[in-house]
Amino acid sequence: MTAHETITAETIAFDDHALILIDQTRLPGELVTLRCTDIRQTHDAIRRLVVRGAPAIGIAAAYGVCLAGDQTGPPTTKQIYLDAIEYLATSRPTAVNLFWALDRMRDVVESTDMGDLPAKLLDEARSIHAEDREMCHAIGRNGAELLADAANVLTHCNAGGLATSTWGTALAPIYHLHQAGHKLHVYADETRPLLQGARLTAWELSQAGVNVTVLTDSMSGSLMRQGKVDAVIVGADRIAANGDVANKIGTYPLAVLARHHAIPFYVAAPSSTFDLALENGDLIPIEQRDRAEVASPHGVTVVPEAAQVINPAFDVTPSELVTAIITERGVVHSPDKSKLADHLS
Ligand code: MRU
Repeated sequence: MTAHETITAETIAFDDHALILIDQTRLPGELVTLRCTDIRQTHDAIRRLVVRGAPAIGIAAAYGVCLAGDQTGPPTTKQIYLDAIEYLATSRPTAVNLFWALDRMRDVVESTDMGDLPAKLLDEARSIHAEDREMCHAIGRNGAELLADAANVLTHCNAGGLATSTWGTALAPIYHLHQAGHKLHVYADETRPLLQGARLTAWELSQAGVNVTVLTDSMSGSLMRQGKVDAVIVGADRIAANGDVANKIGTYPLAVLARHHAIPFYVAAPSSTFDLALENGDLIPIEQRDRAEVASPHGVTVVPEAAQVINPAFDVTPSELVTAIITERGVVHSPDKSKLADHLS
């Protein structure tokens, strides 16, 4: 059973007039979709995490470009499309898949006659979406071998079907093994402050019949010490040329803990998540989000007003803590600059 055989809506769909997104801010309480009919709504949906996860943001933004224009009709100049691309690029800064997808859309704008442009842009967005489905399945196959002997796997945030078009990245090997009859148990970190692990990973895994247990972020070290975690697998928002990985805040301490307990730490990500222009992870822009996400979750004040709050959405894990990176092309063990350059060439 796959994530979307049991989720009754697609994470992302497009019906020519609208981008239709599962509203992830409402899960797990309600499974409802949000229709975006213009680029402002698309930008807002990405910024508010209605749609989130690096590959999903890229797909949504690509379809968003197809919604450029206004009530009077589709754009009459290429500049309107180019402005839409620039605008959508300001929605979130860290996941490089957003910029990768928008670069592909820009190339189409620049190389196509105006009359053909709406159809060609939609073709490109649909290709990005279809390639993502292939990518998820390939990562599932490539990563399955690494987890084949594991009984208990720990993951952080959500790098599953809700973060992509289908199986996800970190969850893809888990779905692959589950389909093959291998009974894996998944520990899902709740993932403060927005609880993507508790709300989304636990929801989609349980929809698919995968055995899942949610833990608060601070419990992972103790579980590892008790020998209850065989492997850690996470996704990525951007991977620098040397293999440093930006992912959801809280990933780095997990990698440190995994190393201390001699537990393999795997990162699963498509080639569109690599940013070879950045020498190392210190150069990756880290999104800083609103105080309210930490200080007043669900509208309940939990931090006194006089106290300051920091809320970086991502952290960077140095490549030396990464056992292997799994992509749609294969597996890179002990990743470094030269191995990754070879892998991606
Ligand atoms: O802030 P989010 O929910 O968009 O963060 C998502 C993550 O950090 C995921 O692990 C990452 O994007 C990989 S998704 C396949």
